[in-house]
Amino acid sequence: MTKSGKKKILKHPPHWKDDFSVDWDATDYVSRREFTRFLGLSSVGMAVGTTLIAGVGSAVKPVREAEPLRLGRVEDFPPGTSKAFEFPEKGQYSLLVRHEDGSFSAYGQKCPHLGCAVYYEPHDRVLECPCHEGFFDAKTGDVISGPPQRGLNVVELEVRDGELWAVGGGGH
Ligand code: FES
Repeated sequence: MTKSGKKKILKHPPHWKDDFSVDWDATDYVSRREFTRFLGLSSVGMAVGTTLIAGVGSAVKPVREAEPLRLGRVEDFPPGTSKAFEFPEKGQYSLLVRHEDGSFSAYGQKCPHLGCAVYYEPHDRVLECPCHEGFFDAKTGDVISGPPQRGLNVVELEVRDGELWAVGGGGH
């Protein structure tokens, strides 16, 4: 615009138009609405794709069930004692506790804090992690005190014809 308010018409187009020339008549314009629609459809497509991948991934994931493990005859475990055993897999340890009232509990032996092995402390009737003084209720596996944020993994037990079996749970 000039000072008088009239539009200044250039006799020659600026040089940059030669370098970055655009043939506007031959160009396909994309309106804001079309671009927004494209973004919306792309987002929906990605969401559907992600959901399908997640669904297929969880559908084909094999569910590993532990082989039941015979631990011994019930009378082999005096009240107030504990015993470590490999369950649910080789190299993973669980801890069986026979309480003073004759009932049993078992837990994955790995502390949920940083993975140290817990042991049974019969005097206080708790499971203790020696690494950072984590304490767990021997009857429930719940945290009593210390840094662990969750309890121990419970091993499911069954008594079959006077024999004690680990049948599920445990692990890390
Ligand atoms: S590893 Fe058990 S309390 Fe830290």
